[in-house]
Amino acid sequence: MKTQLAVLERSQSDPVLEFAQDAVAGLTDSPRWLPCRYLYDERGSQLFEQICDQPEYYQTQAEAAILERRGGDIRATTGPVTLIELGSGTSVKTDFLLAAYTVNGESIRYVPIDVSESALQVAAERIARLRPTVRVAGIVGTYESAFPLFRGHSPVMVVFLGSTIGNLNVTESAQFFTDLSDSLEPGDFFLLGVDLVKDADVIEAAYNDRAGVTAQFTTNIFARMNRELGSAVDLDQIRHVAVYNSDWQRMEVFIEFLADQEVKIGPLEKSLTVAAGERVMIEISRKFVIEDLQEHVEHFGFTVRNTYFDDDRRFGLLLMQSAGA
Ligand code: TRP
Repeated sequence: MKTQLAVLERSQSDPVLEFAQDAVAGLTDSPRWLPCRYLYDERGSQLFEQICDQPEYYQTQAEAAILERRGGDIRATTGPVTLIELGSGTSVKTDFLLAAYTVNGESIRYVPIDVSESALQVAAERIARLRPTVRVAGIVGTYESAFPLFRGHSPVMVVFLGSTIGNLNVTESAQFFTDLSDSLEPGDFFLLGVDLVKDADVIEAAYNDRAGVTAQFTTNIFARMNRELGSAVDLDQIRHVAVYNSDWQRMEVFIEFLADQEVKIGPLEKSLTVAAGERVMIEISRKFVIEDLQEHVEHFGFTVRNTYFDDDRRFGLLLMQSAGA
């Protein structure tokens, strides 16, 4: 069965052209970088699912354990709500929440939002099969583009898992909280999953899994450029580098060039050279101290109602409520 997905982004612009423009902008910047959302094409989304299964990537297990154990408590705190999930992927962890909110056969509305239509399709089909009382209305698009749609659906709980907030830099994250806060009605909820500051070796291992899945995931951004932009990058001459910056409490993930290479951007008929040893920043992943974050969100009109942790306190969930303007 095919589930209907609302497509927000595609009508607005030509995605390949936008990718080309973003690639040129990032790769000609100093230092060079690429927007991380381009990691998540169909192949990238599949690889990300595999990252979540790697033993070193403790985040997924830890967060799933919290959701499984605390779903009932979260539900008791929010009462009936529409669940809106940002960057839902295939919604595997979210299933613990869907279970908690439908435990007595109640029906609930679930709005997953993701840039990967294929991932959304997988989620929508599984949920239709396994959780018949969940009404799914998926949205293909970036979460920013979906913010204006939240109003009028109160009460809602916006769910943002996987420490994806950490992939935004400090400025972007402040903008995110402002926009989210503006999109919510007083009393609406926000459930945020965050990876916590801990031993650097544990964090670094999570982004350098032994099976090499993360390396495949990050190099796929250049494989995708080859496919969609005709970039002709030799993938054997680039490598994945991921290091923890303890001063900034964040992972920094790069693609390092092992030889001088020309990168073609076909749709714009441009080409640029990246030299051997140069790094292109693909992602940052900030780690959080829960007390600091708790204080931070209050500046944006959120009141923290509860915090939840896994047994080893590796990962945290913040359940907060919008106080309104
Ligand atoms: N939100 C995830 C995180 O920051 C995304 C992620 C996991 C990721 N592994 C990655 C992003 C490797 C880039 C590269 O933990």
